[in-house]
Amino acid sequence: MPFLQGAGSKGGATGPVEMCIWSPNHELSGGMILGEDKCQSSSGMEVQTEITTGPVAPLFKPAFFFGTGSSLSGCQFVESPVYYKFYDKGVNHQAIQEEAMSAKRVLTGIQPSGILHIGNYFGTMRQSLAMQQEHDCFYFIANYHAMTSMPEPKHLKERTFQVALDFLACGLDPVKTIFFRQSDVSEVQVLSWILSCLCPLGLLERCHSYKDKLAHGLEANHGLLAYPVLMAADILLYDSNLVPVGKDQKQHLEVTRDLAIRFNNRYGENLLVVPEPLIQEEVAVVPGLDGQKMSKSYDNTIEIFGEGKAIRSKFMRIVTDSTPLEDPKDADHCNVFALYKLMATAEEQQELRERYKAGGMGYGHAKQALFEKYSEYFKEMRERRKKLLEKPGEVEDILQDGAARARKIARVTMERVLAAVGL
Ligand code: ADP
Ligand code: TRP
Repeated sequence: MPFLQGAGSKGGATGPVEMCIWSPNHELSGGMILGEDKCQSSSGMEVQTEITTGPVAPLFKPAFFFGTGSSLSGCQFVESPVYYKFYDKGVNHQAIQEEAMSAKRVLTGIQPSGILHIGNYFGTMRQSLAMQQEHDCFYFIANYHAMTSMPEPKHLKERTFQVALDFLACGLDPVKTIFFRQSDVSEVQVLSWILSCLCPLGLLERCHSYKDKLAHGLEANHGLLAYPVLMAADILLYDSNLVPVGKDQKQHLEVTRDLAIRFNNRYGENLLVVPEPLIQEEVAVVPGLDGQKMSKSYDNTIEIFGEGKAIRSKFMRIVTDSTPLEDPKDADHCNVFALYKLMATAEEQQELRERYKAGGMGYGHAKQALFEKYSEYFKEMRERRKKLLEKPGEVEDILQDGAARARKIARVTMERVLAAVGL
């Protein structure tokens, strides 16, 4: 059973605050708050707690519950997801409700086709994870899509588990976010077929990603060609509004939008939600060790969870120009600096930039600074990952729970779609 524990506190509060808990999902039918009244203000002072203990039901869509206290520990919900926030006492409840109602549904998928790298992290994961606080998020592991590269069955299973572990370690909150394996919600294949029947072949043949894959020697099979249709089904099945992706997926989002519009034109207005891509332009392409786009396929990656000598030696291999040690260097055209920028504060960036400009610093020093920044940046996540690795059953339970929640929503869409197409 999913539950919210040690939910946190409003920083800087010296007295009682008000807490709002809400759920935007259709599925929520009842909730239970088991207040373990250990409230403490952030100044360490014990304050009187007024957290309600007992059922908060029925919860509607979206459901709101307001309670008071300075922090909350041991809060459990019979159904989830739930969102919570602390406010100063006396807040305007209606304004909070309006803010929560305007939350958009965000969905993204990642293929378990290799070990996750910092290109994945800064390209999409970081942004997706940050959205959990304010939005209704669906994140899944695209294991059907990974089959297009024909992995060994045991690798597919193992990598799917590793990606789940990585996402959870990076801060995915399985209570707030619906986190699941694509193949656990079979409705996606039915929708994919229905969309296939609306999809002109030319639309798929024009996709860069398909042409690139053929150029890289992959066999021209139906799975590879139909890849964007399945992706459209992933997105449309959950009425997604926003889809955070890397720049390379932009065209696939255009196919999704095209198919949603065709479907609505053919079968009825507003049957499917037309989604928007969300692409972070400033980190659109994270460079790899060789300066090309970092990618599993180019063998130029820095893993998120790399450790020891092997990972340090990767940093030392990053390609730079041959400016001599004593000469000034151009930070803006350096792969090492481009990566450093992703992890360092503005002051740290400025400091390193000055050292580039001044000369007398070799690229080895910059690489060492980058390596140290990386080790520090991912430290907490690395520790979280180690703990999770000791409890693989818990990771599986999270995925199963996510699939059950996703399925409920998928079924609502499919009822609408099947009725519209006459099935
Ligand atoms: P890879 O190129 O290593 O096979 P994927 O295609 O599985 O990576 O990408 C998963 C997600 O991460 C996608 O949304 C993709 O756009 C993003 N991504 C991958 N590599 C990079 C990169 N170097 N820079 C920015 N985003 C990236
Ligand atoms: N094609 C995406 C990639 O390779 C993964 C993916 C599959 C996806 N289905 C999706 C991303 C739906 C966003 C939404 O990165």
